[in-house]
Amino acid sequence: MSIVITGNPGVGKHTITKKISEILNYPIIDINIFAKNLGLFEKNENTNDVDTQKLAKIITNEKLNGKIIVGHLAPYVLKKNQIEIIIILRRNPYELESVYKERNYSEIKIKENIGSEILGIISHDTIKKFEEKAFQIDVSKQSIEKVVEKVLEVISKKEGNEEVDWLNLVTKNNDLKKFFTH
Ligand SMILES: Nc1ncnc2c1ncn2[C@@H]1O[C@H](COP(=O)(O)OP(=O)(O)OP(=O)(O)O)[C@@H](O)[C@H]1O
Ligand SMILES: [Mg+2]
Repeated sequence: MSIVITGNPGVGKHTITKKISEILNYPIIDINIFAKNLGLFEKNENTNDVDTQKLAKIITNEKLNGKIIVGHLAPYVLKKNQIEIIIILRRNPYELESVYKERNYSEIKIKENIGSEILGIISHDTIKKFEEKAFQIDVSKQSIEKVVEKVLEVISKKEGNEEVDWLNLVTKNNDLKKFFTH
């Protein structure tokens, strides 16, 4: 079985992947490290861009069975028939904001990443491509242990998708301007 963990920066992908990897005894393929080792990162001014087409081609030939694959680029470089299950970790924008501030992200980078989580771009793209193999889990206000438990349950039962609507939450809190204006 090949398990994929994806989601926006700061949702806890690596934290959770490490735990799952230890429990299931699956080695980790970190897509960012994989791409870096191949020299596929193009250094731009503020961001690191990856040639996802090239990366997708190379990953096609990788043996993914019995491994856990992690990265926000996962839905863009993997094929549906290569994997067994793909789990999208979703995290409340207010929690993400704290993570980004702790990481000293710039204001622009914070807004871009939070905006992307509120709109659920990675999630939308993942569900569209991987359909019944894709599951969302809301990690907000959940201990790492609880998230690990939820992920393991989804992996074994192939059910337990959670609905997430940050846009509704942010609108209710009157925070659209806070996150979407410069
Ligand atoms: N369930 C959780 N509850 C509280 N804090 C968490 C939880 N999961 C992760 N964290 C913390 O949130 C921060 C971000 O986690 P992590 O680095 O694993 O995210 P990531 O998705 O791998 O980010 P990136 O895509 O940038 O690599 C870390 O400080 C981590 O300790
Ligand atoms: Mg990480």
